[in-house]
Amino acid sequence: MVVAVYPGSFDPVTFGHLDVIKRSSSSFDRLILGVLHNSAKSPLFSVEERVNILKKATDGIHNVIVKPFEGLSVDFARENGAQVIVRGLRAVTDFEYELQMAQTNRVLAPDIETMFMTTSLEYAYLSSTIMKEVARFGGDLSRFAPPEIISEVMRKIHTSA
Ligand code: PNS
Repeated sequence: MVVAVYPGSFDPVTFGHLDVIKRSSSSFDRLILGVLHNSAKSPLFSVEERVNILKKATDGIHNVIVKPFEGLSVDFARENGAQVIVRGLRAVTDFEYELQMAQTNRVLAPDIETMFMTTSLEYAYLSSTIMKEVARFGGDLSRFAPPEIISEVMRKIHTSA
C-alpha cells in the first residue's frame, strides 16, 4: 500500500491545488492532505475551516483524506505511514524553495521521497495569495476556485474587513 501526504497551507484550496490532488491521487493507494496549523502565519481561514473546505472540495475522490497537522511534514508523513510527500511545482520560481524543502526533508527522513507534480499550465500563475488579493479588490474569482470556495472567501473577507 503506497501512501502519500500532500502538506500545505491550503488557505484556501484553489483549482491549482485541486489539479495536483486529482492527478496525483491516482498514483497512490491513499493521498492524505495535511493542512498546516502554523501559528507564525496569520491565515484568512482557521485550520478547521481550511480542513472543511478541502474536505468538501475533494469529496468525490475516493482515496483522498484531509487532516490538520502541526510541526514537520516528515513527522506528519511518518505518523500516517506515508512513504511519499507530494508537492506541486508551478514555475521555476517555486523551484528553489521546493528543492530546499525537499532536500531538508530528505536529510530529516531519508526513507521518505518527495515527488513533484507540475501544475497544469492553465493554473501555473495561480496561488491562494493571488486569489485573496483579487477577492479583496472585488475581482472575478471564477477561474481560481469552485463556486462554493469563492462564496467562503467572499464571506470571510467581508466579515473580517
Ligand atoms: O502551501 P505552502 O504554504 O507552500 O506549504 C508549505 C509547507 C506546509 C509544505 C511547509 O511550510 C512545511 O512543510 N511546513 C512544516 C514544517 C516543515 O516540515 N518544514 C520543512 C523543513 S524545511
